[in-house]
Amino acid sequence: MATHTNIMIWFLVAQVVLLVMVPRIEAKVPAVIVFGDSSVDAGNNNFIPTVARSNFQPYGRDFAGGRATGRFSNGRIATDFIAQRLGIKPTIPAYLDPAYNISDFATGVTFASAGTGYDNATSDVLSVIPLWKELDYFQDYQKILKAYLGEKQASQTITEAVYIISVGTNDFLENYYASPGGRQSQFTITQYQNLLAGIAESFVKKLHGLGARKISLGGLPPMGCMPLERTTNMIGQHNCVERYNNLALEFNGKLSNLVVKLNKQLPGVNLVFSNPYYAFMHIILNPALYGFEVTELACCATGMFEMGYACGRTNPFTCPNAEKYVFWDAFHPTEKTNHIIADYIVKKVLYKLL
Ligand SMILES: *[C@@H]1O[C@H](CO)[C@@H](O)[C@H](O)[C@H]1NC(C)=O
Ligand SMILES: *[C@@H]1O[C@H](CO)[C@@H](O)[C@H](O)[C@H]1NC(C)=O
Repeated sequence: MATHTNIMIWFLVAQVVLLVMVPRIEAKVPAVIVFGDSSVDAGNNNFIPTVARSNFQPYGRDFAGGRATGRFSNGRIATDFIAQRLGIKPTIPAYLDPAYNISDFATGVTFASAGTGYDNATSDVLSVIPLWKELDYFQDYQKILKAYLGEKQASQTITEAVYIISVGTNDFLENYYASPGGRQSQFTITQYQNLLAGIAESFVKKLHGLGARKISLGGLPPMGCMPLERTTNMIGQHNCVERYNNLALEFNGKLSNLVVKLNKQLPGVNLVFSNPYYAFMHIILNPALYGFEVTELACCATGMFEMGYACGRTNPFTCPNAEKYVFWDAFHPTEKTNHIIADYIVKKVLYKLL
């Protein structure tokens, strides 16, 4: 009887402790800081001279206020949903957007640029922000953050923030395979993958050197299933292009190994590999489970080739309900897909950083 009571009391205490603990776990992440390409750009490209833009309708038509922010989606992107799930805020603003200042950036910021890659030659294709420059911006940000929060609290934010890196697709699809005279003539695909993995390694090391500790390195999605690739897969009856999917799997394997290695090497680091591949593939293979009806074509225009300006306002064909589509344009998921992937990544991987 006494033991029973003890257990009951212990159980109650445990529950109370849990109730108190849960909000603390959320409050432990002071900021989400993002690097990468269009998968996580919230509009930085609006403020640089490039055609890699999406700050016009129908982009953003399901965003708050129907605003086309420069996100390559009908609404929010995965990192917005991640910030929300971590209890921070519903959207992460772009560093170059003058509508925001350090009071916004102190809890989350993205330095990402649509069209960029690990390789400097990839960002050159569309004259966008190279990855090394995103790190330069991060250094500027640290100075402004210190002036705003004070040295001590700023360092605490830098140490405890969650860092998200999402890049790589463009290195293969916009650079390597798009220009036979370029990287393809210099490197085999295996050599090129190793080159990119090497750049990923030095990027993570530099980020760690700048004070980051909780870092998520993102994997590639099934690139061969993007509508653009399916459209051009005429011999393959517009199925997913297996060569590109296998490449994504192979490169993800290299990144995953890199994460294991760097966790041993870098003092105090908590580095995780956020792999969207299988969750994404599950959606594409079982769309009805998620309420999707169309996987092969994108919502925008004919759904086969269009993105950016080709997906513009004057195009009369854009689908009425993006919730039924996995892809918004020929290269980017709908808000609904972003939401599903973000929830999956938080539940499966990012919780390890909390
Ligand atoms: C940031 O912008 C808000 C709203 O425009 C303004 O009230 C605030 O003073 C600004 N903060 C800083 C630190 O500049
Ligand atoms: C990319 O360019 C920057 C600036 O010129 C340079 O510092 C860096 O070493 C280059 N990265 C690679 C991997 O070549």
